[in-house]
Amino acid sequence: MTQLETYITEHEERFLDELKGWLRIPSISTLPEHAGDVRAAAEYAARDLQSIGFDKVEVIATQGHPLVYGEWLNATGKPTVLIYGHYDVQPVDPVELWDTPPFEPTIRNGNIYCRGACDDKGQTMLVFKALESLMAVDGKLPVNVKVLIEGEEEAGGESIEHYVRTTPEPLGCDAAFICDTHMPGPETPALITGLRGIIYTEVEVQGARRDLHSGTYGGIAPNPLHALAIIISKLKDEQGHIHIPGLYDKLRPAAQVERDFWEKDPLNFAEALREEMGVSQLVGEAEHPPLERISARPTLEVHGISGGFIGEGAKTVIPAVAKAKISLRLPPDLISKEIFPLFEKAVHNAAPEGVKVTVQNLHGGEGLVVDLDNPAMVAATQALKETYGKEPIYLREGGSIPVAALFNEILHVPVVLMGFGLPDDNLHAPNEKYSLAQFYRGIRTVARFLQNLA
Ligand code: BES
Ligand code: MN
Ligand code: MN
Repeated sequence: MTQLETYITEHEERFLDELKGWLRIPSISTLPEHAGDVRAAAEYAARDLQSIGFDKVEVIATQGHPLVYGEWLNATGKPTVLIYGHYDVQPVDPVELWDTPPFEPTIRNGNIYCRGACDDKGQTMLVFKALESLMAVDGKLPVNVKVLIEGEEEAGGESIEHYVRTTPEPLGCDAAFICDTHMPGPETPALITGLRGIIYTEVEVQGARRDLHSGTYGGIAPNPLHALAIIISKLKDEQGHIHIPGLYDKLRPAAQVERDFWEKDPLNFAEALREEMGVSQLVGEAEHPPLERISARPTLEVHGISGGFIGEGAKTVIPAVAKAKISLRLPPDLISKEIFPLFEKAVHNAAPEGVKVTVQNLHGGEGLVVDLDNPAMVAATQALKETYGKEPIYLREGGSIPVAALFNEILHVPVVLMGFGLPDDNLHAPNEKYSLAQFYRGIRTVARFLQNLA
């Protein structure tokens, strides 16, 4: 066993304890009442970077939640890696569906259950522990490292976007590394070759000036909830086609190798996802294979609808207002700023008479295709091969990490997306978990990745 291997093995338990301490801080970035917790989670990360031996560690104030920055730049002549992660988490509702309290890390069946266990405290902590292990064993890191982590990823990431755009020089690097993605299974190492962008909107439909008695006004009053249902049903049909004129115009066909992979689905991934969801069949655009639909096709999803009466019993009311949260996932060819006006127009065109409709763009971010042909991807491929004992596969991810495209655009560097999440980690859902085996294997893989890069 190498010294590095021994160090990691001997400290596994403490690494887990440090993750647990971080997980107990309920750093929910979208809920203003948790702003103090978000800050506490930032400080926790800063302290960890300091204790690892980073030279310059700062908690950077922003308009929103703080950024944490740390650097160690003493590997003269070696490449510089910019490491990104996020310490904010999603809200926990519906809280009654959690088997154990959402902010009490609990170990069951080789997994750690907690909000943020995977996304992204677990994945960020494993990178920190890889850095710690390298530093402890060698007294130095194999490459120069800049760490930039944010507390607003789940809330749109405006502050980091502003920071990267206005302060790119200190972030200069040769490659960026993001540990915030999945692999298809615990024995199927993967590198992510693309991400989708996103626009997240709120559609508000206003009818009468106030709620109305449905006996007195039913028959002449516009019903905003029904209007919303009509709008939504016109935006996407039963075959999964999205009816937003112009949406598909700039979408270019993928490379033949990728299309073959989607078509063949050699790992039977679509069936595994069907089982994981517990549904009888997959839905969506039948003319595109499921793997393409989850990673490289635009999607339109409704996340929630509110309005009217939903309490116990009955109340005969025609609501004055109804709202829906609707997002679109955008393959990299489609630019969020260009698509939003098309969406807005389609919503207005789909609205029935008599209601007033407003469409708000809550946040957005661009997708990315990763350049495979660079030393950082080679180093990551090699590292996965060493720890998992087989060649990684290359996959696109359907989720969004807007900062990835931003690093690529502003810093002009390749972005390595190597994460250790699994499809059943329950991201953003009750009972989020992270596999301990993945956590520990992740530490070893990231340490090797940085060594290989040197
Ligand atoms: N880590 C996820 C992205 C992700 C999801 C990667 C699933 C791999 C598998 C990230 O934290 C996330 O949730 N991103 C948001 C976008 C953001 C703009 C709210 C998403 O994809 O919904
Ligand atoms: Mn994440
Ligand atoms: Mn997330």
